[in-house]
Amino acid sequence: MARGDSASDCAALGTRLAATRQLTLDLAAPLSDADATIQPNPDASPAKWHLAHTSWFFETFILRDHVPGYRLHDERWPYLFNSYYEGEGERHARPRRGMLSRPSLDEIRDWRRAVDAALQRALPGLPAAALKLVELGIQHEQQHQELLLTDILATLAENPLEPAYIRHCEEAKPTRQSSSAEAGLLPPDRVRGRNDEMEWIEGKEGLVEIGAMSDGFAFDCERPRHQALLHPHRIAGRCVTNGEWQEFVADGGYRTPALWLSDGCDWLGREGVRSPLYWRDEGHHFTLAGRQPIDPDAPVDHVSYYEADAFARWAGARLPTEAEWEAAFASADPRQGHQLDRAAPVLPRPGGGPFGDVWQWTQSAYLPFPGFRPEEGTVGEYNGKFMSGQMVLKGASCATPRGHSRPSYRNFFPPAARWQFTGVRLAQDA
Ligand SMILES: [Fe+2]
Repeated sequence: MARGDSASDCAALGTRLAATRQLTLDLAAPLSDADATIQPNPDASPAKWHLAHTSWFFETFILRDHVPGYRLHDERWPYLFNSYYEGEGERHARPRRGMLSRPSLDEIRDWRRAVDAALQRALPGLPAAALKLVELGIQHEQQHQELLLTDILATLAENPLEPAYIRHCEEAKPTRQSSSAEAGLLPPDRVRGRNDEMEWIEGKEGLVEIGAMSDGFAFDCERPRHQALLHPHRIAGRCVTNGEWQEFVADGGYRTPALWLSDGCDWLGREGVRSPLYWRDEGHHFTLAGRQPIDPDAPVDHVSYYEADAFARWAGARLPTEAEWEAAFASADPRQGHQLDRAAPVLPRPGGGPFGDVWQWTQSAYLPFPGFRPEEGTVGEYNGKFMSGQMVLKGASCATPRGHSRPSYRNFFPPAARWQFTGVRLAQDA
């Protein structure tokens, strides 16, 4: 969008900006200042930090850089709320974000209001390059909305009282309560039976194109669109369920070294992992709605790449490659599925499509596409510098704001990470 483009384009951007900023506030609304200040582990950030950092992004890259005469809300705060941009200088250590009892949650909300007002005033006069950054800021804030939810889940999971983020929400209830028999451990032969019941999609074969189309927003790491060679394969029509995971546990999946990658085996031993992250016993798990029965028909969530890979081997399958996944679901509607529409204790549910419920691990490392070029300037640090030691996940989760994902979307996390809504879709060589 160039300066002088239609006022309606600018108004539409302003409307989406306002709606995105409001959803973040709504997500944080049930939280006390204390809830919003805790950092449960070095990977997760306090909710207050997410509220502040997303404002820092807009204030720094748009208001400071593109609005003549703009004065920072507080000149000390960029040090606190810069995440990882070396181009923006020194910053507070990530593992110490939970030590920031001040500024208060109310002060951060005041900052958000001031930034929002300045952005809306500035929008009609911003140059095209700045409008592109407003779009990037919206997409960035949507990513942090998902992180805010997964990080508050990690925070509340630390509390032995098992507090709910929000109680009494219809969406959080499993569609079918699992009885103790259902939640119990099934014999191994059922596993093969269940997998046989799985609907398999014949994968595309030969040369396919993957990566972002030329129109519409995409992160730099999704480009350029390029060819990939696919070998004969099938891809599962749905994600692995909790019920199937219970069978994996019952069959000794976590105690069978032959199923695990060497790094995964070390990780199991080090962390003492014996089930998905928030499983409390055979039939219950901790969720944003507090302790809930595990729905055996819902996609399993909060598993690491190592677990996903071991499960796939146990099931006589493998994880799909990034290109296989993208080719299979290139024409699926990424706006359909169980995704985030409003502040609520989200939970994967049965019956969803490729977009929604859980991000799906692929066996592909997060690497640059052939010809990849990071964005110009400091925002070029957004993606490219993380292309080491991380795996690609495809799809979207129940915590992904609807409209944020697309077939070429490349989520990425280290193989041991499992505090996100991460699940498993199987593939097989044909
Ligand atoms: Fe960020």
